[in-house]
Amino acid sequence: MNVEQLKKIAGEKAAERVKDGMIIGLGTGSTVKYTILKIGEMVKDGLEIIGIPTSRATEQLASRIGIPLGDINEYQEIDLTIDGADQVDSEMNLIKGGGGALLREKMVAYASRYEVIVVDERKICNVLGSFPLPVEIARFGYQRTMSALEKFGCRASLRYRNEEIYVTDNGNYIVDCKFEEIRDPKTLEREIDEIPGVVEIGLFVNLVDEIIIGRKDGVEIRKKNSTRR
Ligand code: A5P
Repeated sequence: MNVEQLKKIAGEKAAERVKDGMIIGLGTGSTVKYTILKIGEMVKDGLEIIGIPTSRATEQLASRIGIPLGDINEYQEIDLTIDGADQVDSEMNLIKGGGGALLREKMVAYASRYEVIVVDERKICNVLGSFPLPVEIARFGYQRTMSALEKFGCRASLRYRNEEIYVTDNGNYIVDCKFEEIRDPKTLEREIDEIPGVVEIGLFVNLVDEIIIGRKDGVEIRKKNSTRR
């Protein structure tokens, strides 16, 4: 199986968690796209759910295939969210934000009773850090904020797309912070959060209930022993 097939088996497996009447957080990225497409088919077959998209890209995809949508102000309690990730460690902590949607993804994860993450096996690691950590920051004083981030021992690069500074759905910038290793994600998240100008950090600590991994020999499912709420 190639990587695309691994994404597909993980993404489609997650759609089995979706039940009639649920409010569903819809993540962002090329793996959860397969979940969203599957949910679209289920809706055509009569499933009734409301999707809460985590980005404009997901909103466009979901509405194009007929998934009824709401937003997090209207639906403040989300039954289940399915999303992708850039890295998953042995404690089920994540790096997210490779696609730039980390702020909405984190808000939706925080509002969710159950969070499922879909990845292919390349994303699994013991310790986070080989993927640069995305941090969403305000445009005002962004160079000053980048200097503050580098004090944590990373190399901070402002994200560009098509030779222009990348701007998130929320009108902010993203800085990709390359650390050697992130051994204590919880502390790092808390400390970075104290920098004025930081809007959100792509570290997801203790926010995940289940990981669905697409592997060459099939799908692996890892569940958290205790639920987080
Ligand atoms: C979006 O901002 C990210 O958090 C994505 O969930 C993450 O980058 C995974 O995307 P892929 O499934 O495309 O790798």
